[in-house]
Amino acid sequence: MVADKVNIDPWSSNQSTDYSRIIDQFGLSDFSNITMPKPSHLHRRGIVFAHRDLDLVINAHNSNESFGVLTGLMPSGRMHLGHSMVIEQVKWFQQLGGDVTIAVADLESQATRGVGLAKGREIALQEYVANYAALGLDPQKTNVYFQSTRSVVQRLGFQLGKRTNLNEFESIYGFKGDTNLAHLQAPMVQVGDILHPQTEEYGGLRPIVVPVGVDQDPHLRLTRGIAAKSNWFNVNDNNGPGLLVGLSIQEENAEILGQQPNGRIDRNKVAEVFNGIVAKLSGLGFSDINSNPKQGTIVIPGATQRDKAKIRMKLLELERELGGMGLLAPSSTYHHFAIGLTGDKMSSSKPKTTIFLNDDVNTISKKIRKAYSGGQSTIEEHRRLGGNPDVDVAYQYMMYFFEDDDNYLAELNSDYRNGKILAGEMKQICVDKATEWMTNHIELRDQTNHLVAEFLANDSK
Ligand code: TRP
Repeated sequence: MVADKVNIDPWSSNQSTDYSRIIDQFGLSDFSNITMPKPSHLHRRGIVFAHRDLDLVINAHNSNESFGVLTGLMPSGRMHLGHSMVIEQVKWFQQLGGDVTIAVADLESQATRGVGLAKGREIALQEYVANYAALGLDPQKTNVYFQSTRSVVQRLGFQLGKRTNLNEFESIYGFKGDTNLAHLQAPMVQVGDILHPQTEEYGGLRPIVVPVGVDQDPHLRLTRGIAAKSNWFNVNDNNGPGLLVGLSIQEENAEILGQQPNGRIDRNKVAEVFNGIVAKLSGLGFSDINSNPKQGTIVIPGATQRDKAKIRMKLLELERELGGMGLLAPSSTYHHFAIGLTGDKMSSSKPKTTIFLNDDVNTISKKIRKAYSGGQSTIEEHRRLGGNPDVDVAYQYMMYFFEDDDNYLAELNSDYRNGKILAGEMKQICVDKATEWMTNHIELRDQTNHLVAEFLANDSK
C-alpha cells in the first residue's frame, strides 16, 4: 500500500521515527546476527538500531585487518546533543582500531543553506571539531577535511555521475522537474566523500563504515548502488551449489577484458583475465574453482554465502590491478533520534527543542525543567497510574546522553513507570546528571581546545 510507505528526506528536519518500517522498507539489518565487541551505551540500549554490512567491519576488527570510518558534518547550525551520537560511535570505532575521516560538508552547506565557505570553516572548527576533541576523538587518528578543498572527492562525484540517472534520483529522493540542481550535486559530492577513503591515496581498499542518522540513508543507498554498478566483477549465487563469479563489461573495461572495439573477442586476453581471477581466488582455500571463459563465468562449488565478502574483496583487488576503481560498497550504522525538549523533533533551527553543546549549565537546567514530561497531571494520578518514561524528556536524555549505568537506568525506568518517582523528581535527577556531564565537557573543551588544528588533514590546515 502506497500510504504505508515511509519517506526519508535528508534535507527535512521532519523525519519518520517508524524505525521497524524503515528497516523493512529499505532493507536495513538489525543487530540480531552481530556480536559487538565492548558495546557502548548506544548499542546496549538499542539506540544504534540498524546497519548495512557492519559484519565486514567487525570481521576486519576481529581479524586484525584495517578498516576506516567516515562521517560528515553540516557546517550550518550549532552542534547539539543529537549530533554527539555519531561522534560517540566514531570514537567507539576509533578505539576498535578504525582510521577516521570526517567530511566538512561546506560545499553542501553553501549550495543548500547559503553558508559561505569561510563561514562554514569557522562553524566547523569552533562549533563541531572543538566539541569532538572534548568528546574524546583522538586528533592523531582523525582527519577532518573540507569538501571544497579535496579534489578527489569532487572528481569522484563527477565521474560516478555516470552510474546513476534522474530516474534513480526520483525514486530515492522524490525529486521532480523543479528540483534545483544543488540537490543533485550535493549527494554526488557525498558519494565522493563516502568512497574516497578507499582510494590508494587515502588508505586503499578496506571496509569503510559510515555512522549516521537514518535521514542520511538515501545517500548510502545511492552510494552503494553506484559502487556496485561500477564493479568489473561480481559474485552471485550459483544455480547449482556454490557461488558464481561473472564479468560486467563496460566502456571503461571492454578492451582490458578482451572485447575489441570491432566486436571481436580477444581469446588470449579473456584467458588471461580468467587466469587472473583464478589466481586471485586460489589463496582462499577452495578445492575447486571452475573457470569457463567461453561462458564468461567461474563457479566455485564449495563456496557459501559466508565466503561472498572475501571473494568480493579479491575481485576488487584484481579490478584495481587491471586499472579499475575497485569500489567496495560502504557499510553504515543508524541511530534513533532523541526526542526534542518539547516532545517533538530535535532541530538546530529551533533552539527550544534541544541542548547545544555550548549552552551553559544554567541554560541547560532551565531547559530540562521546562521540558516535556511523561508524568500525569496531578501527583495523586501519577502515584496511581505512573509516568511514561518512553516520552519523558528527562528520562530519555538520561538514557541517550548522561547516564552510563544500565542498572540504575532500569531502576529509574521502573520507578517512574510505577509512580514512585514524580516527573519533577525525574527532572531534578536529569538536571543533576546533565550539570555534571556538561561541567566535565566544558572543562575538557578548554583542555583540548589547543588540539583543534591537529584534527585537520594536511590539505585542510
Ligand atoms: N549530508 C550530511 C548532513 O546533512 C553531511 C555529510 C556530507 C555527510 N558528507 C557526508 C554525512 C558523508 C555522512 C557521510 O549532515
